[in-house]
Amino acid sequence: MNKIIVANWKMNPSTLKEAEELFRVSTNAIVCPPFVYLEELSKIKSGAILGAQDIAFSDEPGQTGEVSGEMLRQLGVKYVIIGHSERRWRLGESDEIVNKKLKLALVHNFTPIVCIGEKVRDESFRGFLKGQIDSTFDGLSGEQIKKCLIAYEPVWAISTNPGAEPDTPETALESVNFIKSIVNIKVLYGGSVDSKNVKDFISLPEISGVLVGGASVSKEEFINLLNEVSK
Ligand code: PGA
Repeated sequence: MNKIIVANWKMNPSTLKEAEELFRVSTNAIVCPPFVYLEELSKIKSGAILGAQDIAFSDEPGQTGEVSGEMLRQLGVKYVIIGHSERRWRLGESDEIVNKKLKLALVHNFTPIVCIGEKVRDESFRGFLKGQIDSTFDGLSGEQIKKCLIAYEPVWAISTNPGAEPDTPETALESVNFIKSIVNIKVLYGGSVDSKNVKDFISLPEISGVLVGGASVSKEEFINLLNEVSK
C-alpha cells in the first residue's frame, strides 16, 4: 500500500542512542526528530527519510533559538512540519507566522507537511477549517500549493491533549473531503493513530497517509504499525 507515514517524535526520545534505535526501525517513514538528533541520524542508512518539526520564519540570522532552512537542507532534511497545533495553540504561533514558515519551506525546496485542524468538533468546524486553510496558504500560487501535503489533525484527537480520542474514520473522511474541496492536494490524518487503528484510516482512498506522534516513539508499537501498513 503506497501510503505516507510521518513520525512526529515531538520532544522524544531523551537520548541519542534511543533516537538511533528508533530511526533504524522506521523504514519507509518520514521521521521528524528533535533538531539535535538530525545530524547523527542523517548518517544512518535505514530507509527512513528525514523531516524537521519546524523551520525559522525568515533567513535573517538574528533569531535566538531558531534553525534555518539552509541548516536543515545541509542535514539532508526533505520534509518540514508547518503549523503543528502544539505550536499554534501552546506557543501562540499565529497564522501569519505559519504562513511565513510555509513560504520559506518552499523557497528551500522542502515538502511542507501543513497541519490543519479544529480545536473543537461542533457545527462550526467547516468554517474554522476554511479560515485556517485560507490564512495558512495565503499568497501561495496553485503550483506552490501542489507541492504541499496537508495533515488533518483535529486538536481534540491528539494524544497529548486531555481526554483525546482518535477521530472516527467516518468523521475524519468528512473533514478530509471538505479540505480537499478547498485545496485538492494529498491529505494525511493525524491524531492518536496507532497500530490498531492505522488500517482504518489508510484503507480510505481519500486519506493519503498518517502523521503519528506517540505511537512513533515506541519501537515495538511503531514496528507493528509499519507492519500493518505494509500488509
Ligand atoms: P499523536 O500525535 O499521534 O500522539 O496523537 C499526533 C501529532 O500531534 O502529530
